[in-house]
Amino acid sequence: MTESFFANLPVEPPNPILGIANDCNNDPFTEKINLTIGAYRDEHGKPHVLPCMAKAWEMVKVNPQYQHFEYLPQDGLPEFVELAKQFMFGHNSPLLQNKQVYSVQTVAGTAAVRLGAEFLLKVSKIHQQHQSPSSSSSPVVIAIPNVTWQNHPSIMNAVGFSVRTYRYLAGNGVDFDFQAMIEDLRQLLPGTIILLHACAHNPSGCDPSPDQWREILSVVEDHQLVPFFDNAYQGFTSGNAEEDAFAVRLFASKSGKVPVVISCSFSKNFGLYGERLGCLHVVCETADEATRSAAILRAQARVLYSTCPSLGARLVSTILANAELKAQWEIDCRAMADRLGSIRTTLRQKLIDYNVKGNWDHIVVQRGMFSYTGIPANAVDRLKIEHHIYLLRDGRISLAGLNDSNIDRFAQCCAEVLGTNA
Ligand code: LMR
Repeated sequence: MTESFFANLPVEPPNPILGIANDCNNDPFTEKINLTIGAYRDEHGKPHVLPCMAKAWEMVKVNPQYQHFEYLPQDGLPEFVELAKQFMFGHNSPLLQNKQVYSVQTVAGTAAVRLGAEFLLKVSKIHQQHQSPSSSSSPVVIAIPNVTWQNHPSIMNAVGFSVRTYRYLAGNGVDFDFQAMIEDLRQLLPGTIILLHACAHNPSGCDPSPDQWREILSVVEDHQLVPFFDNAYQGFTSGNAEEDAFAVRLFASKSGKVPVVISCSFSKNFGLYGERLGCLHVVCETADEATRSAAILRAQARVLYSTCPSLGARLVSTILANAELKAQWEIDCRAMADRLGSIRTTLRQKLIDYNVKGNWDHIVVQRGMFSYTGIPANAVDRLKIEHHIYLLRDGRISLAGLNDSNIDRFAQCCAEVLGTNA
């Protein structure tokens, strides 16, 4: 008998984020604590539908324009794409007036990162060939932070980049090391793509200050690097979408000198996780470059997933186009950011109250959905096995999974697995 076609498949390890989230979902223990995947939970640990979204949903259902399930155009729902541009760059941005930005709706942030990566690889190869037509093409390098969203290196490797890292965190594994980052960026060759987190760096929650962003930009200009932003938390980080757009807008203001590509997610800030809504923006020097970028990206998206689903885009454009709903969204988004901020304060205090070994100041310095706690993998495993508490093995916790009814138990269990300060 011949061997089964699938007989020699290797046993792949589960995904570091989705696998542990799945383990938690499958745990029948009622007091389990889920600090795994970055999905906002309310103070009762329940999924949260933003009040503005509930209203938009009612409006979308009766909107005569939306009474069909036709394919979206290649660039996505036109009203969404236009509003997503304004959301990113500001509605008065000269970049939009000059038509220097090409934007395409994507299947959430993941596809925006994938599509942006495919695009940048292709453009880099074309650029390389024009710069030195005689030399055989060398691998295209992308530099990513040495801690980053687990999917970043996987996507960049899958696309075919040569992936390097730049230092991001200090030796203690929880604090931002700006000097190390800058030193490493200065070593990169012209044309290197650098992946940057626009705000709420995932997993560390450590972001550069506005002055540090200015310094990063000047290194990018001097060394002719190509910034690729992952913007997954706009509005969700500080509670203010304009403030969270600071770094992207700063870099985009140098259009002409610096090419900028930005992948955006609407999962967290609009609570639209399962609707898979994202957008990719390419900031060019001229409108003509934007048009030529469009043709390449349309072809690349066509072979990946063709066109996007429509519901999320209908919902978000309904909100962004309506002054009342937009104001409600600002309140809803700030409420999520504020709740995460107060969890940070409470968690730090509880860990201090239980005298848990270590210093916990970084919890209130970091920003966004996650805290990179510094809890080592062996303690993470004990939290899971002995206490039904689930977090990533690199020590990342999704703060939204904590609330008044479980934060005390979490801190107490941390004292048990980590020990106490002498
Ligand atoms: C996370 O980092 O937990 C989220 O961005 C969700 C995901 O897809 O990984």
